[in-house]
Amino acid sequence: MDDTRIPIMRPFLPDTETLIPYLRRIDNNRWYSNYGPLCHELEERLAEHWSVKTTHVLSLSNATQALSIALWSVEAPAGSLCLMPSWSFVATAHAARQVGFTPFLTDVDANSAALTPDIAFASLKRAPSPVGAVIVVCPFGAPVPWEDWADFQQRTGIPVIIDAAAAFDTVQPGPVPTVVSLHATKVFPAGEGAILMCTNDDVVEQARRRANFGFLGDHHSRCHATNAKMSEYHAAVGLASLDAWPANRRRWQSALNQMRQACAQAGLADWPQGLGETYVCSSPTIRSAAASHLISGLQSDGIEARRWWQGGIASHEAFNQVPRLALPVTEQLAATTLALPCWLDIDPQSISRVAASLKRHAHPD
Ligand SMILES: Cc1ncc(COP(=O)(O)O)c(C=O)c1O
Repeated sequence: MDDTRIPIMRPFLPDTETLIPYLRRIDNNRWYSNYGPLCHELEERLAEHWSVKTTHVLSLSNATQALSIALWSVEAPAGSLCLMPSWSFVATAHAARQVGFTPFLTDVDANSAALTPDIAFASLKRAPSPVGAVIVVCPFGAPVPWEDWADFQQRTGIPVIIDAAAAFDTVQPGPVPTVVSLHATKVFPAGEGAILMCTNDDVVEQARRRANFGFLGDHHSRCHATNAKMSEYHAAVGLASLDAWPANRRRWQSALNQMRQACAQAGLADWPQGLGETYVCSSPTIRSAAASHLISGLQSDGIEARRWWQGGIASHEAFNQVPRLALPVTEQLAATTLALPCWLDIDPQSISRVAASLKRHAHPD
Protein backbone atom coordinates (compact mmCIF):
# COMPACT_ATOMS: atom_id res chain seq x y z
CA MET A 1 0.00 0.00 0.00
CA ASP A 2 1.20 3.55 -0.80
CA ASP A 3 1.68 5.18 2.60
CA THR A 4 2.94 8.58 1.40
CA ARG A 5 0.96 11.21 3.24
CA ILE A 6 -1.45 13.17 1.03
CA PRO A 7 -1.54 16.82 2.13
CA ILE A 8 -4.64 19.01 1.94
CA MET A 9 -2.96 21.07 -0.78
CA ARG A 10 0.29 21.58 -2.60
CA PRO A 11 0.53 25.26 -3.56
CA PHE A 12 1.68 25.81 -7.13
CA LEU A 13 3.33 29.11 -8.01
CA PRO A 14 5.13 30.23 -11.18
CA ASP A 15 8.59 28.66 -11.39
CA THR A 16 11.93 30.44 -11.59
CA GLU A 17 12.12 30.32 -15.40
CA THR A 18 8.81 32.11 -15.84
CA LEU A 19 9.72 34.69 -13.21
CA ILE A 20 13.11 35.64 -14.67
CA PRO A 21 11.87 38.11 -17.33
CA TYR A 22 9.87 39.94 -14.67
CA LEU A 23 12.75 39.92 -12.18
CA ARG A 24 15.07 41.32 -14.87
CA ARG A 25 12.63 44.17 -15.34
CA ILE A 26 12.78 44.89 -11.60
CA ASP A 27 16.60 44.86 -11.76
CA ASN A 28 16.55 47.32 -14.65
CA ASN A 29 13.88 49.57 -13.15
CA ARG A 30 15.46 49.64 -9.67
CA TRP A 31 11.94 50.21 -8.42
CA TYR A 32 10.98 47.67 -5.75
CA SER A 33 7.77 48.87 -4.11
CA ASN A 34 5.54 51.99 -3.83
CA TYR A 35 3.15 51.29 -6.69
CA GLY A 36 5.89 50.51 -9.21
CA PRO A 37 5.56 49.60 -12.88
CA LEU A 38 4.93 45.87 -12.32
CA CYS A 39 2.14 46.58 -9.83
CA HIS A 40 0.70 49.00 -12.35
CA GLU A 41 0.85 46.39 -15.09
CA LEU A 42 -0.82 43.81 -12.85
CA GLU A 43 -3.62 46.29 -12.10
CA GLU A 44 -3.94 47.13 -15.80
CA ARG A 45 -4.10 43.51 -16.91
CA LEU A 46 -6.57 42.52 -14.18
CA ALA A 47 -8.73 45.51 -15.12
CA GLU A 48 -8.78 44.11 -18.65
CA HIS A 49 -9.56 40.63 -17.30
CA TRP A 50 -12.61 41.99 -15.41
CA SER A 51 -13.52 44.62 -18.06
CA VAL A 52 -13.17 47.55 -15.68
CA LYS A 53 -10.97 50.66 -15.72
CA THR A 54 -7.42 50.45 -14.37
CA THR A 55 -8.46 52.98 -11.73
CA HIS A 56 -10.88 50.34 -10.40
CA VAL A 57 -8.16 47.86 -9.42
CA LEU A 58 -5.60 48.20 -6.64
CA SER A 59 -2.78 45.83 -5.72
CA LEU A 60 -2.24 45.39 -1.96
CA SER A 61 -0.12 43.35 0.45
CA ASN A 62 -2.69 40.76 1.56
CA ALA A 63 -6.46 40.38 1.87
CA THR A 64 -6.58 40.97 5.63
CA GLN A 65 -4.99 44.41 5.17
CA ALA A 66 -7.11 45.02 2.08
CA LEU A 67 -10.34 44.46 4.04
CA SER A 68 -9.19 46.95 6.69
CA ILE A 69 -8.22 49.44 3.99
CA ALA A 70 -11.62 48.96 2.33
CA LEU A 71 -13.41 49.73 5.62
CA TRP A 72 -11.42 52.95 5.94
CA SER A 73 -11.96 53.85 2.29
CA VAL A 74 -15.76 53.66 2.39
CA GLU A 75 -15.57 55.93 5.44
CA ALA A 76 -17.62 53.65 7.63
CA PRO A 77 -17.91 55.15 11.13
CA ALA A 78 -15.09 53.73 13.23
CA GLY A 79 -16.21 52.46 16.62
CA SER A 80 -19.43 51.04 15.18
CA LEU A 81 -20.35 47.43 14.60
CA CYS A 82 -19.28 45.62 11.47
CA LEU A 83 -21.88 43.01 10.63
CA MET A 84 -20.35 39.84 9.20
CA PRO A 85 -21.10 36.14 8.99
CA SER A 86 -19.56 34.02 11.72
CA TRP A 87 -19.06 31.43 8.97
CA SER A 88 -15.74 32.74 7.71
CA PHE A 89 -12.01 32.59 8.29
CA VAL A 90 -10.91 34.67 11.30
CA ALA A 91 -9.15 37.17 9.00
CA THR A 92 -12.52 38.82 8.24
CA ALA A 93 -13.02 39.71 11.89
CA HIS A 94 -9.36 40.62 12.56
CA ALA A 95 -9.49 43.02 9.61
CA ALA A 96 -12.50 44.86 11.06
CA ARG A 97 -11.15 44.97 14.57
CA GLN A 98 -7.75 46.36 13.59
CA VAL A 99 -9.41 49.50 12.20
CA GLY A 100 -11.65 50.05 15.21
CA PHE A 101 -14.83 48.12 14.39
CA THR A 102 -16.44 45.55 16.63
CA PRO A 103 -17.34 42.40 14.67
CA PHE A 104 -21.06 41.64 15.02
CA LEU A 105 -21.51 38.00 14.11
CA THR A 106 -24.56 36.73 12.35
CA ASP A 107 -25.78 33.47 10.85
CA VAL A 108 -25.80 32.50 7.17
CA ASP A 109 -28.21 30.97 4.71
CA ALA A 110 -28.30 27.16 4.96
CA ASN A 111 -28.25 26.70 1.21
CA SER A 112 -25.53 29.12 0.07
CA ALA A 113 -23.57 29.17 3.37
CA ALA A 114 -23.34 32.95 2.84
CA LEU A 115 -24.85 36.03 4.46
CA THR A 116 -27.89 37.18 2.47
CA PRO A 117 -29.44 40.66 2.32
CA ASP A 118 -32.53 39.25 4.11
CA ILE A 119 -30.44 37.94 7.00
CA ALA A 120 -28.55 41.25 7.09
CA PHE A 121 -31.79 43.29 7.23
CA ALA A 122 -33.12 41.11 10.06
CA SER A 123 -29.79 41.33 11.92
CA LEU A 124 -29.71 45.15 11.66
CA LYS A 125 -32.96 45.28 13.64
CA ARG A 126 -31.45 43.19 16.41
CA ALA A 127 -28.03 44.86 16.58
CA PRO A 128 -27.05 46.02 20.09
CA SER A 129 -25.65 49.31 18.70
CA PRO A 130 -25.36 51.02 15.28
CA VAL A 131 -23.97 48.97 12.42
CA GLY A 132 -21.51 51.02 10.35
CA ALA A 133 -20.52 48.45 7.74
CA VAL A 134 -21.28 44.97 6.46
CA ILE A 135 -18.75 42.40 5.23
CA VAL A 136 -20.13 39.62 3.05
CA VAL A 137 -17.99 36.51 2.57
CA CYS A 138 -17.85 34.30 -0.53
CA PRO A 139 -17.77 30.85 1.10
CA PHE A 140 -14.86 28.87 -0.32
CA GLY A 141 -14.79 30.82 -3.55
CA ALA A 142 -18.51 30.51 -4.33
CA PRO A 143 -20.24 33.52 -5.90
CA VAL A 144 -22.56 35.81 -3.92
CA PRO A 145 -25.35 37.95 -5.42
CA TRP A 146 -23.21 41.03 -6.17
CA GLU A 147 -26.11 43.15 -7.48
CA ASP A 148 -28.31 42.44 -4.46
CA TRP A 149 -25.54 43.70 -2.22
CA ALA A 150 -25.11 46.85 -4.28
CA ASP A 151 -28.85 47.34 -3.85
CA PHE A 152 -28.63 46.71 -0.08
CA GLN A 153 -25.85 49.30 0.17
CA GLN A 154 -27.94 51.80 -1.77
CA ARG A 155 -31.11 51.17 0.26
CA THR A 156 -29.58 51.20 3.75
CA GLY A 157 -26.74 53.68 3.21
CA ILE A 158 -24.54 51.17 5.03
CA PRO A 159 -21.33 50.41 3.13
CA VAL A 160 -20.84 46.79 2.13
CA ILE A 161 -17.52 45.09 1.44
CA ILE A 162 -17.18 41.69 -0.15
CA ASP A 163 -14.54 39.37 1.24
CA ALA A 164 -13.90 37.33 -1.90
CA ALA A 165 -10.55 36.06 -0.60
CA ALA A 166 -10.86 32.69 -2.36
CA ALA A 167 -13.13 33.89 -5.17
CA PHE A 168 -10.78 35.20 -7.86
CA ASP A 169 -12.71 33.22 -10.45
CA THR A 170 -16.20 34.41 -9.49
CA VAL A 171 -15.85 38.11 -8.66
CA GLN A 172 -18.04 40.55 -10.54
CA PRO A 173 -17.26 44.22 -10.99
CA GLY A 174 -19.55 46.63 -9.22
CA PRO A 175 -19.79 49.49 -6.74
CA VAL A 176 -19.28 47.20 -3.73
CA PRO A 177 -15.55 47.03 -2.90
CA THR A 178 -14.39 43.45 -3.36
CA VAL A 179 -11.21 41.94 -1.95
CA VAL A 180 -9.44 38.91 -3.47
CA SER A 181 -6.49 37.20 -1.80
CA LEU A 182 -3.39 36.29 -3.82
CA HIS A 183 -2.01 34.09 -1.04
CA ALA A 184 0.08 31.10 -2.13
CA THR A 185 -2.82 28.75 -1.39
CA LYS A 186 -5.23 30.46 -3.80
CA VAL A 187 -5.94 29.59 -7.45
CA PHE A 188 -4.39 32.87 -8.59
CA PRO A 189 -1.36 33.25 -6.33
CA ALA A 190 1.34 35.87 -5.90
CA GLY A 191 2.79 34.32 -2.70
CA GLU A 192 1.20 37.04 -0.59
CA GLY A 193 -0.96 39.81 -1.98
CA ALA A 194 -4.47 41.03 -2.62
CA ILE A 195 -6.53 42.92 -5.12
CA LEU A 196 -9.20 45.44 -4.26
CA MET A 197 -11.69 45.97 -7.07
CA CYS A 198 -14.47 48.54 -7.12
CA THR A 199 -16.10 50.57 -9.88
CA ASN A 200 -16.24 53.61 -7.60
CA ASP A 201 -13.07 55.60 -8.44
CA ASP A 202 -13.20 57.52 -5.17
CA VAL A 203 -13.14 54.38 -3.06
CA VAL A 204 -10.13 52.97 -4.93
CA GLU A 205 -8.29 56.30 -4.77
CA GLN A 206 -8.95 56.48 -1.02
CA ALA A 207 -7.68 52.91 -0.67
CA ARG A 208 -4.51 53.77 -2.63
CA ARG A 209 -3.87 56.60 -0.19
CA ARG A 210 -4.79 54.59 2.93
CA ALA A 211 -2.40 51.80 1.94
CA ASN A 212 0.45 54.30 1.51
CA PHE A 213 0.65 56.19 4.81
CA GLY A 214 -2.14 58.57 3.78
CA PHE A 215 -0.06 60.02 0.91
CA LEU A 216 -1.48 60.72 -2.50
CA GLY A 217 0.47 62.96 -4.84
CA ASP A 218 2.59 64.49 -2.05
CA HIS A 219 4.14 63.36 1.22
CA HIS A 220 1.56 64.83 3.54
CA SER A 221 -0.48 62.33 5.54
CA ARG A 222 -4.11 63.35 5.70
CA CYS A 223 -5.97 60.37 7.14
CA HIS A 224 -5.73 57.15 9.15
CA ALA A 225 -3.51 54.94 7.07
CA THR A 226 -0.94 52.18 7.06
CA ASN A 227 1.50 50.55 4.69
CA ALA A 228 -0.26 47.78 2.76
CA LYS A 229 1.25 48.12 -0.70
CA MET A 230 2.19 45.15 -2.85
CA SER A 231 5.92 44.87 -3.62
CA GLU A 232 7.21 44.65 -7.18
CA TYR A 233 8.40 41.11 -6.43
CA HIS A 234 4.91 39.95 -5.55
CA ALA A 235 3.55 41.74 -8.62
CA ALA A 236 6.10 39.76 -10.69
CA VAL A 237 4.66 36.50 -9.34
CA GLY A 238 1.14 37.80 -9.91
CA LEU A 239 1.95 38.69 -13.54
CA ALA A 240 3.48 35.28 -14.19
CA SER A 241 0.37 33.70 -12.61
CA LEU A 242 -1.80 35.76 -14.91
CA ASP A 243 0.21 34.58 -17.96
CA ALA A 244 -0.52 30.99 -16.87
CA TRP A 245 -4.11 31.58 -15.79
CA PRO A 246 -6.02 30.15 -18.81
CA ALA A 247 -4.01 26.90 -18.70
CA ASN A 248 -4.01 26.72 -14.89
CA ARG A 249 -7.74 27.29 -14.73
CA ARG A 250 -8.26 24.26 -17.00
CA ARG A 251 -5.95 22.19 -14.79
CA TRP A 252 -7.93 23.24 -11.71
CA GLN A 253 -11.16 22.28 -13.46
CA SER A 254 -9.79 18.85 -14.25
CA ALA A 255 -8.49 18.30 -10.67
CA LEU A 256 -11.77 19.47 -9.13
CA ASN A 257 -13.86 17.32 -11.44
CA GLN A 258 -11.81 14.25 -10.55
CA MET A 259 -12.37 15.02 -6.87
CA ARG A 260 -16.09 15.54 -7.50
CA GLN A 261 -16.25 12.08 -9.13
CA ALA A 262 -14.38 10.54 -6.19
CA CYS A 263 -17.01 12.02 -3.86
CA ALA A 264 -19.89 10.86 -6.05
CA GLN A 265 -18.50 7.29 -6.13
CA ALA A 266 -18.51 7.34 -2.33
CA GLY A 267 -22.12 8.52 -2.30
CA LEU A 268 -21.09 12.02 -1.17
CA ALA A 269 -23.20 14.08 -3.53
CA ASP A 270 -23.13 17.42 -1.72
CA TRP A 271 -20.51 18.98 -3.99
CA PRO A 272 -20.69 22.83 -4.25
CA GLN A 273 -22.83 23.82 -7.20
CA GLY A 274 -20.73 24.87 -10.20
CA LEU A 275 -17.35 24.12 -8.58
CA GLY A 276 -15.03 22.78 -11.29
CA GLU A 277 -17.49 23.74 -14.01
CA THR A 278 -18.44 27.41 -13.81
CA TYR A 279 -15.73 28.35 -11.32
CA VAL A 280 -12.58 27.04 -9.69
CA CYS A 281 -11.31 27.39 -6.14
CA SER A 282 -8.40 25.74 -4.34
CA SER A 283 -10.33 24.56 -1.28
CA PRO A 284 -13.13 22.18 -2.30
CA THR A 285 -15.40 21.53 0.66
CA ILE A 286 -18.31 19.15 0.90
CA ARG A 287 -21.02 18.66 3.46
CA SER A 288 -21.71 15.34 5.08
CA ALA A 289 -23.40 14.24 8.30
CA ALA A 290 -20.39 11.93 8.67
CA ALA A 291 -17.82 14.76 8.46
CA SER A 292 -16.05 13.96 11.76
CA HIS A 293 -15.89 10.28 10.95
CA LEU A 294 -14.62 11.06 7.44
CA ILE A 295 -11.89 13.40 8.67
CA SER A 296 -10.55 10.85 11.15
CA GLY A 297 -10.95 8.02 8.62
CA LEU A 298 -9.03 9.93 5.95
CA GLN A 299 -6.35 10.87 8.51
CA SER A 300 -5.94 7.21 9.47
CA ASP A 301 -5.35 6.47 5.76
CA GLY A 302 -2.63 9.15 5.63
CA ILE A 303 -4.85 11.73 3.91
CA GLU A 304 -5.23 15.22 5.29
CA ALA A 305 -8.76 16.63 5.47
CA ARG A 306 -9.67 19.76 7.39
CA ARG A 307 -12.27 22.06 8.74
CA TRP A 308 -10.84 25.24 7.20
CA TRP A 309 -12.92 27.62 9.30
CA GLN A 310 -13.14 25.47 12.46
CA GLY A 311 -16.45 26.41 14.10
CA GLY A 312 -16.54 29.82 12.42
CA ILE A 313 -15.34 33.12 13.88
CA ALA A 314 -17.49 32.86 17.03
CA SER A 315 -15.73 29.64 18.06
CA HIS A 316 -12.32 31.34 18.35
CA GLU A 317 -11.11 32.60 21.71
CA ALA A 318 -10.06 35.94 20.16
CA PHE A 319 -13.71 36.67 19.40
CA ASN A 320 -15.53 35.09 22.33
CA GLN A 321 -16.61 38.49 23.65
CA VAL A 322 -17.97 40.04 20.46
CA PRO A 323 -21.74 40.48 19.98
CA ARG A 324 -23.53 37.80 18.00
CA LEU A 325 -26.95 36.51 17.15
CA ALA A 326 -28.01 32.87 17.35
CA LEU A 327 -25.87 30.83 14.93
CA PRO A 328 -27.70 27.51 14.37
CA VAL A 329 -26.85 27.27 10.65
CA THR A 330 -23.19 28.14 11.25
CA GLU A 331 -23.01 25.48 13.95
CA GLN A 332 -24.56 22.94 11.60
CA LEU A 333 -22.11 23.91 8.81
CA ALA A 334 -19.19 23.69 11.21
CA ALA A 335 -20.23 20.16 12.19
CA THR A 336 -20.81 18.90 8.65
CA THR A 337 -18.31 20.71 6.39
CA LEU A 338 -14.98 19.19 5.46
CA ALA A 339 -12.30 20.28 3.02
CA LEU A 340 -10.73 17.66 0.79
CA PRO A 341 -7.21 17.51 -0.64
CA CYS A 342 -6.84 19.12 -4.04
CA TRP A 343 -4.22 20.93 -6.09
CA LEU A 344 -3.93 21.78 -9.74
CA ASP A 345 -1.63 18.93 -10.74
CA ILE A 346 -2.90 16.32 -8.31
CA ASP A 347 -1.87 12.88 -9.61
CA PRO A 348 -4.25 10.02 -10.43
CA GLN A 349 -2.81 7.84 -7.62
CA SER A 350 -3.67 10.45 -4.99
CA ILE A 351 -7.17 10.84 -6.42
CA SER A 352 -7.66 7.04 -6.33
CA ARG A 353 -6.45 6.84 -2.74
CA VAL A 354 -8.79 9.64 -1.67
CA ALA A 355 -11.67 8.00 -3.57
CA ALA A 356 -11.04 4.62 -1.92
CA SER A 357 -10.72 6.16 1.53
CA LEU A 358 -13.90 8.23 1.10
CA LYS A 359 -15.75 5.09 0.03
CA ARG A 360 -14.46 3.21 3.06
CA HIS A 361 -15.41 5.85 5.59
CA ALA A 362 -18.44 7.61 4.08
CA HIS A 363 -20.93 5.33 5.74
CA PRO A 364 -19.89 4.65 9.31
CA ASP A 365 -22.57 2.03 9.86
C1 LIG B 1 -12.57 34.41 3.92
C2 LIG B 1 -11.15 34.91 4.03
N1 LIG B 1 -10.92 36.20 4.27
C3 LIG B 1 -9.67 36.69 4.36
C4 LIG B 1 -8.57 35.88 4.20
C5 LIG B 1 -7.20 36.45 4.37
O1 LIG B 1 -6.44 36.46 3.21
P1 LIG B 1 -4.88 36.83 3.26
O2 LIG B 1 -4.17 35.58 3.65
O3 LIG B 1 -4.56 37.28 1.88
O4 LIG B 1 -4.71 37.91 4.27
C6 LIG B 1 -8.76 34.52 3.94
C7 LIG B 1 -7.59 33.64 3.75
O5 LIG B 1 -7.68 32.55 3.24
C8 LIG B 1 -10.08 34.01 3.85
O6 LIG B 1 -10.31 32.71 3.62
